[in-house]
Amino acid sequence: MFGRGIELKKPEQIIKMRRAGLVVARIHEEFAKAVTPGVTTGELDALARELLAQEGATSNFLNYGADMGYPPYPGVACISVNEVVVHGIPDERRLEDGDIVSIDFGAIVDGWHGDAARTFMVGDVAQQARDLSEHTRESMWDGFAAARLGGRIGDISHAIEKSLLARGRDYGIIREYTGHGIGTAMHQPPDVPNYGKPGRGPKVVEGLVLAIEPMVTLGTEDTATLDDEWTVVTTDGSWAAHWENTVTVTKQGLWVLTELDGGEAELKARGIPFGPLAD
Ligand code: MF3
Ligand code: CO
Repeated sequence: MFGRGIELKKPEQIIKMRRAGLVVARIHEEFAKAVTPGVTTGELDALARELLAQEGATSNFLNYGADMGYPPYPGVACISVNEVVVHGIPDERRLEDGDIVSIDFGAIVDGWHGDAARTFMVGDVAQQARDLSEHTRESMWDGFAAARLGGRIGDISHAIEKSLLARGRDYGIIREYTGHGIGTAMHQPPDVPNYGKPGRGPKVVEGLVLAIEPMVTLGTEDTATLDDEWTVVTTDGSWAAHWENTVTVTKQGLWVLTELDGGEAELKARGIPFGPLAD
């Protein structure tokens, strides 16, 4: 541990986290295929439960919050449609042509956690909403690009914010929810906000593993939580996108633990060094 309770991982522990990350990445590939008009969010959650069992992994979402005074989270995935920003509870709702759906999903393998979110398009989606998701995804990669050894968390936060502001679309950048450290628990220090000043915050060092996760709306940055105590919606009904990966910085470069290829293709396309650890 260093800083304010930040858990630094040894290389062999990060290699274990990659196993959890790969499970998350593979199941996201299955979500991508299963998201179609007519499927219910409950069916998507049930699919993920089956796949987790097949992988020999367990859920870090199921029953989350029980020890913090919240109703235990009832799913293995958060499935957030349109104006739902995060923490949408899987249920009987059927996805419809033109919807966008953010699926946030995590897994535990051998005690190590992975966490990643993707926004999927359901059928034929309006250009504005497609752009929202694409720009949110790009801001995530711009955040990764700003993560380097000796830098600061604020560099990442600032890069995400700058990327989104540069779109000139007046997007709402959610402030109430942030990225986070991850390792032997899903949520660890430090927080990784999606806005901020470069040069501020904890140092980025070897062994730090972060879940970086911009949440962006077509309107307000203000959110409200429904009576179920989980579902987070925009107060103006504007639609939201959410992209997240679990990443680490090595001496060689970045390693995106929750992408199938470790982030190699996207990193190289952006001129960011790819730095996986050897098994
Ligand atoms: N995985 C989410 C995050 O990105 C949080 C999930 S909350 C839960 O931080 F209750 F669903 F587990
Ligand atoms: Co997260």
